[in-house]
Amino acid sequence: MGIWNLKGVAAAATLLTASHFAWADYPDKPVVLVVPFAAGGPSDKIARDLADALRKPLAQTVIVDNTAGAGGTIGSARVARAAPDGYTLLVHHIGMATAPALYKKLPYKVPEDFEPLGLINEAPSTLVGRPSLPVNQFAELRKWIAANEGKVNIANAGVGSASHLCGLLLQASLASKMIPVPYKGTAPAMTDLMGGQVDLMCEQATNAVPQIEAKKIKLFGVTSKQKLPLPALAQAPTLAEAGLAGFEMTVWHGLYAPRGTPAAVLAKLNTALRSALKDPELIKRQEALGVRVVTDARLEPVEHRKFVEAELQRWSKVIRDAGESAD
Ligand code: MLT
Repeated sequence: MGIWNLKGVAAAATLLTASHFAWADYPDKPVVLVVPFAAGGPSDKIARDLADALRKPLAQTVIVDNTAGAGGTIGSARVARAAPDGYTLLVHHIGMATAPALYKKLPYKVPEDFEPLGLINEAPSTLVGRPSLPVNQFAELRKWIAANEGKVNIANAGVGSASHLCGLLLQASLASKMIPVPYKGTAPAMTDLMGGQVDLMCEQATNAVPQIEAKKIKLFGVTSKQKLPLPALAQAPTLAEAGLAGFEMTVWHGLYAPRGTPAAVLAKLNTALRSALKDPELIKRQEALGVRVVTDARLEPVEHRKFVEAELQRWSKVIRDAGESAD
């Protein structure tokens, strides 16, 4: 190897070491987890559980900051524009894969503008209704929807949210068009569902289970492939077995940093995420709500990226077939 090559290698090694060294103290100030939905909903819930579990492996304060609106795209844009220094991260879900098919003027690119750090959890969704609905089983609900075609409304957390997508799948499966009622998150939507201001919602188990247990809403079905063992959900059929053949939806959450975040920081964050997802308290809290914490290869950033790209393909077709768009 010529002298210039040797010098080149030495220079590259110095740069790498300097970069690694420059981030050796990371994190030396609080890390912010941005949640792109209102406080109190499923995304907020997993973010707060994750923040609690990350404090130990990062040996640093981890705080959750809600930037809601436009189906999660406002909070996602905030992180896409944030300094790539590992102090502003995004906790987001299936909306990462749906926004590009729904928003023509999206102020960021998926997956290009983000560094995936790993998947966090997977939650089934539930089809729930206001307590005053004059039906109790899915078969009766199906008849009621048909008898009230065009008048039934369904809450969601904005175009591209998990609840919006689940609602699209439901309407396509029932060949019924419902009136969407968007909120900044499914926490405020749940308040209105319990109050009877909206008829239905397709909501993650995370946010639905406490209200089902309290008998404040009616449960008609779950969107998982199999029935769920959780007592609050065990009585409900899967929507597939209730007559919507092939209906299946799992809402996943992932952790993201802005593109350009140094590799040394990404490695520290991925290691801390793996450790946090083994936290018994986090696992207990999530499983109590019917949610599974991820332990598989999708914790590898490259596998997480592949997964998001596959989900992007899947949901783009659902959205195209539904003729949906946010703009
Ligand atoms: C969704 O519908 O995307 C989420 O439930 C929104 C939220 O976490 O509030």
